[in-house]
Amino acid sequence: MTVQIITIDGPSGSGKGTLAAKLAEHYQFHLLDSGALYRLLGLSLRNKQLLDQLDTQLEQCVHIASQLNIQFLTTEQGIKVLLDNEDVSQEIRTEEVGAFASKVAAVPEFRAALLQRQRNFAQAPGLVADGRDMATSIFPEAQAKIYLTASAQSRAERRVNQLQAMGLDVKISDILANIIARDKRDMEREVAPLKPADDAYIIDSSELNIDEVFKLMTTYVDQQLAK
Ligand code: DC
Repeated sequence: MTVQIITIDGPSGSGKGTLAAKLAEHYQFHLLDSGALYRLLGLSLRNKQLLDQLDTQLEQCVHIASQLNIQFLTTEQGIKVLLDNEDVSQEIRTEEVGAFASKVAAVPEFRAALLQRQRNFAQAPGLVADGRDMATSIFPEAQAKIYLTASAQSRAERRVNQLQAMGLDVKISDILANIIARDKRDMEREVAPLKPADDAYIIDSSELNIDEVFKLMTTYVDQQLAK
């Protein structure tokens, strides 16, 4: 039986995570949050005081990447993420860990070390994979490829709302600067840069709410999966 794959790529704050989870629930597919893998790797290397030694300790760091002890547990409150059996669900969502992730994600050896782990998520009946290079490098065979984007300003506003809901005190100017810097790094890196696949369906969510984006996505995905 073929495993049906839906990819959602795009910059941070475009709403990918929320929509990927909604699509996975709607189609009863598995879910891969690939950004979480880079966040977990960044956090693990920081905890081992290796994040500033990537150049000199690369071999050891790549070994750690290939052996990462992580679990994604589905709970009533959502997905719980464990690193070395410790719940880091909240910690990996911070801006700080986002910056660690962006740093490790630019290193080709880490991307290679995480490749097979990502492909292993493709299990019957299907998978919704959320990231930056899901359609362009990890699952080029996907039946449905979505590229979800939004203006930097609207992404910054959404991020501020999310962080404030977590009880964090943040300034929009800082968040906007982070978003612009991270976009630049993600789009300009040599390996697997953020860009739409040639056959991707592109959605700009700047002026749309979640339900409107979800409707566009399911209309497209239904067509693709029926082919
Ligand atoms: O989607 P996110 O914000 O959790 O991603 C964290 C970082 O990891 C971000 O800088 C981009 C990078 N990333 C990547 O390079 N490739 C992916 N497939 C997913 C995330």
